[in-house]
Amino acid sequence: MNSISDYDVYTARMQKTYYDKCWWINHIPGKVNTIIDFGCADAGIYNFIDNMYPGRFTYIGVDANEEMLRIARKEYEGNARVSFYRSLKELNGFSQENTVMILNSVMHELFTYSNHIEVFDFIADVRKTSPAYIAVRDMHKVSPTIKFDWNLENNPYQEQYLSYKEVTDFDEADINFSLEFLLKYLYPENWSREVIEKYLWNWSDFFENTLEKDIVHFGEAEKMYGYIRKYEEDFSIRFLQEKWKEDFGIEIDIPTHKKVLLIKKED
Ligand SMILES: C[S@@+](CC[C@H](N)C(=O)[O-])C[C@H]1O[C@@H](n2cnc3c(N)ncnc32)[C@H](O)[C@@H]1O
Repeated sequence: MNSISDYDVYTARMQKTYYDKCWWINHIPGKVNTIIDFGCADAGIYNFIDNMYPGRFTYIGVDANEEMLRIARKEYEGNARVSFYRSLKELNGFSQENTVMILNSVMHELFTYSNHIEVFDFIADVRKTSPAYIAVRDMHKVSPTIKFDWNLENNPYQEQYLSYKEVTDFDEADINFSLEFLLKYLYPENWSREVIEKYLWNWSDFFENTLEKDIVHFGEAEKMYGYIRKYEEDFSIRFLQEKWKEDFGIEIDIPTHKKVLLIKKED
């Protein structure tokens, strides 16, 4: 995985959206008392949640980045309700029906840094972990709508734009080309990492074709139920839209992000 050059900047950036990253709380029943946070980073969100709902949740953080895990473990040292792991395969001893798995801003990293087999392995691991609820929030590819013309003469972000143009898979005529740049240009501190990340992909369809399907191997005896989509919302980030207007004179209102809540079918 491409390393992060500035952990303070990286984690500070994520804190801005903690409240919105807890959107699922109002959609799950009160009995749910365990969070599995896949791609938890420094797990700062748990302090935030525990302030809102003191003592309600036990927290299991999972992250593949050892440095993130070290920072997170240090922060919650001695807290018996918090534990950390490197992979979903290591988890045990939680009640699946009282658990919500949250996937905040991690689908795009999984897609960027994992090969196809690993992405399907991830789905298999999620099925095995089998939480009652799965809440996903991330940037999301949009359907082409308008063509976008850039004029970056004398613009301070021109150099970033050119380096982005060199590595992105999107064609300049695709609106996703422009949106992906607009979503990443504000993060120059970890630019060598950000510029290559595939921010926009259709993880919603991917879930529909995988986790949301039942698996039947050898007849009903081997049936493994999938998940049902209970809630879905496309949205955009207001402060980014204001920044785009300020930095490029661009006024667009296209949803660049998506939230999805999946619920496990009853056996
Ligand atoms: C952009 S951060 C999001 C952090 C946090 N969920 C948030 O929204 O504030 C993505 C995190 O996912 C982790 N990550 C990426 N791919 C992963 C994988 N395959 N397994 C576990 N963690 C992964 C990264 O190490 C990073 O800490």
